[in-house]
Amino acid sequence: MFQKVNSQQAMALEDKYGAHNYHPLPVVLSKGEGVYLWDPEGNMYYDFLSAYSAVNQGHCHPRLVEVMAQQAKTLTLTSRAFYNDVLGPYEKYITEYFGYDKVLPMNSGAEGDETALKLARRWGYDVKGVPENQAKIIVCEGNFHGRTITIISMSTDPDSFGGFGPYTPGFEIVPYNDLPALEKALEDPNVVAFLVEPIQGEAGVYVPDDGYLRKSFDLCKSRNVLFIADEVQTGLARTGKLLACHHEGIRPDMVILGKALSGGMYPISAVLADDEIMLTIKPGQHGSTFGGNPLAARIAMEALQILKDEHLADNAETMGAYFREEMRRINSPMIELVRGKGLLNAIVIRPKDGKEAWDVCVKMKENGVLAKPTHQHIIRFAPPLVINRVQMDDAISRISEAILSF
Ligand SMILES: Cc1ncc(COP(=O)(O)O)c(C=O)c1O
Repeated sequence: MFQKVNSQQAMALEDKYGAHNYHPLPVVLSKGEGVYLWDPEGNMYYDFLSAYSAVNQGHCHPRLVEVMAQQAKTLTLTSRAFYNDVLGPYEKYITEYFGYDKVLPMNSGAEGDETALKLARRWGYDVKGVPENQAKIIVCEGNFHGRTITIISMSTDPDSFGGFGPYTPGFEIVPYNDLPALEKALEDPNVVAFLVEPIQGEAGVYVPDDGYLRKSFDLCKSRNVLFIADEVQTGLARTGKLLACHHEGIRPDMVILGKALSGGMYPISAVLADDEIMLTIKPGQHGSTFGGNPLAARIAMEALQILKDEHLADNAETMGAYFREEMRRINSPMIELVRGKGLLNAIVIRPKDGKEAWDVCVKMKENGVLAKPTHQHIIRFAPPLVINRVQMDDAISRISEAILSF
């Protein structure tokens, strides 16, 4: 049975018995509360990753812990072979919250994306009238939508797709933030959807030009093509609005949510769409043993309500603008660029004396701030959205001290 271990033991065990599909920073975490994390030896850290933006509501939010415990003692899983008495209320709540006819509940972000791809193809055949097996979906260079075979088939990152072929056909890749390229790709009448991240998170927090999303949306509408927003990372108040698409006032035909939909308690994802799209999938044609279980439904409802009650989008907007301003004031040749929106930010690191983003992250860890490099030279900064000004100031001085130490 479970026995507590110290940091050295925990790292040695993972190394020996776990697959080596991650390269973690050398820190072991054993406790979390709000924006703080602790290691087994009792050292405290500011979390500036939030489990890749899944812990927007802060670690172990008391309201989430409470509903999770209550529901865990009552009923956790029935499968969709039967109805349960939490799923219906959750479906009503989330569809009204975002203004869509229907929701399809899943677990991981990748499953949410797979679901949207299937819905788009089915809509293409049944509603748009695309000939059988000819549907095409446009995606962007640098995208990240998850790790399944189909999803890596549309990736341009060799680490993601290399050595895993054969690949799923039916995708066309266009450069991100390039409207003429999208317009050209949309000329093919078999295109059923354009799948896009409103900000490319994993690629290194690439924020497209103002107007890109709005104009892409309009182009899609003019060609009878679905606009699908993957808001798994950008959604749920992270960028200063409930959905990042709201910055440009657009209502995607489909929205994919994950991560913070559970506030980090449990894997919960969802696809939102209207009846014309959602009802193309019939009983038996898609599903998941755990998708829509009562435990997930309770947690998701509470996690969404917390975003509103605690005004987390507004806090992300204010704290994010302040963070970028303060980072730009740090006088270091290692800071090439600071970019982001709300509390989804990145610093592009220029190597100095052989020291790279990884070394900066190790130094920040020693100073009590946890962040992780993405693609060698970029560090993402995405704390829980509950961070307050005092905590932000303390974290900023630790980050700046770490960078200036090189
Ligand atoms: C935009 C986006 N989509 C999908 C995913 C995949 O989510 P998951 O890891 O829960 O499968 C991620 C994960 O980082 C993501 O950033």
